[in-house]
Amino acid sequence: MPLKKQNKVNYLARIIAAMKNWIKLKKIADAGLPSLDEMFARDTHRAERMRYQACGIYADFSKQRISPDVTQALLGLVQEKKISEKRASLFAGEPINFTENRAVLHPALRGSSKDKTINKLVSDMQMRTRNFAESIMKQGKYTSVVHIGIGGSDLGPRLLADGFAACGKPELALRFANNVDAASINDALLDLDPATTLVVIVSKTFSTQETRMNGEAARDWLGQYANANMIAITANRDGAKNFGVSSSQIFDFWDWVGGRFSLWSAVGLSLQLTYGPDIFDALLSGAASMDAHFQNTSLENNLPIMLALTDIWNTNFLNYKSRAVVPYARRLRKLPNFLQQLEMESNGKGVMRNGQPAPDTCPIVWGDEGTNAQHAFFQQLHQGTSSTPIDFIAVLTDHENRPDHHLALLSNCFAQSEALMHGKSEADVRADLLNENMSAGIIDKLAPHKTFPGNRPSTTILLERLDAQTLGALIALYEHKVFVQSVIWDINAFDQWGVELGKEMAGTILSELQGKTNNPHDTSTSALIALARNHKAS
Ligand code: F6P
Repeated sequence: MPLKKQNKVNYLARIIAAMKNWIKLKKIADAGLPSLDEMFARDTHRAERMRYQACGIYADFSKQRISPDVTQALLGLVQEKKISEKRASLFAGEPINFTENRAVLHPALRGSSKDKTINKLVSDMQMRTRNFAESIMKQGKYTSVVHIGIGGSDLGPRLLADGFAACGKPELALRFANNVDAASINDALLDLDPATTLVVIVSKTFSTQETRMNGEAARDWLGQYANANMIAITANRDGAKNFGVSSSQIFDFWDWVGGRFSLWSAVGLSLQLTYGPDIFDALLSGAASMDAHFQNTSLENNLPIMLALTDIWNTNFLNYKSRAVVPYARRLRKLPNFLQQLEMESNGKGVMRNGQPAPDTCPIVWGDEGTNAQHAFFQQLHQGTSSTPIDFIAVLTDHENRPDHHLALLSNCFAQSEALMHGKSEADVRADLLNENMSAGIIDKLAPHKTFPGNRPSTTILLERLDAQTLGALIALYEHKVFVQSVIWDINAFDQWGVELGKEMAGTILSELQGKTNNPHDTSTSALIALARNHKAS
């Protein structure tokens, strides 16, 4: 074995040996588990025992391959990792993002901090954004808002824009531009009137290429209205001023708010402008109720902790390599994208806090809205050679006033998790085919193709309703889940150095595509650059 790999193996072996419960879990997994059907047969109270409830959210973990001894060992593991102390450090604003020497205080944005100075900063800013949103609505001058930003400055506001539509109606049209592909800003500005459009540029750093270029395009498009109709939300006030945004039109947030945790800050202003500030307050209060649940509820009844532990079990012990998120709610269709950044940018790390190699960390998170997904990738989920745990998410209230659609939607959601768990045995398939009067030859041929292995795990998360309050709680639930996992893996969930290298290299290549420089590359990259340059020239 190469030395580097051997070192990693030795190191992990030492770390893991220090964790009694990790070893216990490994032994349970290695010994093999009863099937999900057997687990249900052995314990008639399983569904009830493994259902959790908090802040308008139910989570049913009973279709996960988790036996009672697994739950006990997982709870032991999270205690061994001193979750209570780590959680207290998060809420106390200690600089737990140690590679950037920053506190991680997004909970303060929803009133969950005890730091008076921070609370004052937050409430002053909330007052400013509320007053600004109210004055814009009162003026009646604007018809549309164009929100420019990318990553954490885009995904959260987009998720909210869809989610809020379940219970409200936007006063102004809201469009988004994120990608550096000009189609993004072109589509966002199409057919709008610069005189009645408010452009909101959101960038924590105010140096992000995509946002700056889209901002420049919008500023040019606004022309004489640029001064009045352009606002910025940023932690880099000088950057925004130099860009041409007047000081009174800049709304600050702070370096202790990570981009992917920033939707609670002035980053959410576009939603206040379009849906009004009250709905935004409801979002914050829903998140605060999940903060309180996370801090004050015993480990075994704690929703974010159980969600995190389930993913740890699946990733580190059952070796599932990805997790699908399938909201059976069109208005949550952006949730898979949002969670991709939240989970993969936070926990997609290869080293622990001490710089040593980490165990397996964040699985790939992916997904799409149900029922659409059933007609796309569910074939693989049911019968493919690899199995993927799924988070099914649905809403109990019918917000669309179409009960027939709503019941059909829920029935599909529940049926998928049931089908994945039970599967269909070859014997049952054969019996069905016989009933259809198929010949023995045809039955032999078809039976393997119509068999479902089953025993495929999922969690079902049900929201009582899709209002701002519950949406806030749902997002905070996943934020805390991510944090708990980072504690168990002993990684820093709050930096993102992995995004830097490609950005730097794109800068070098851009100057080559512009014909300004020539740099050495591997032969593949050189050939791609040459193709693009020649194409441009032709
Ligand atoms: O490239 C990744 C990233 O830094 C994210 O972490 C962040 O949410 C996004 O870019 C946008 O950054 P900014 O808000 O500074 O423009």
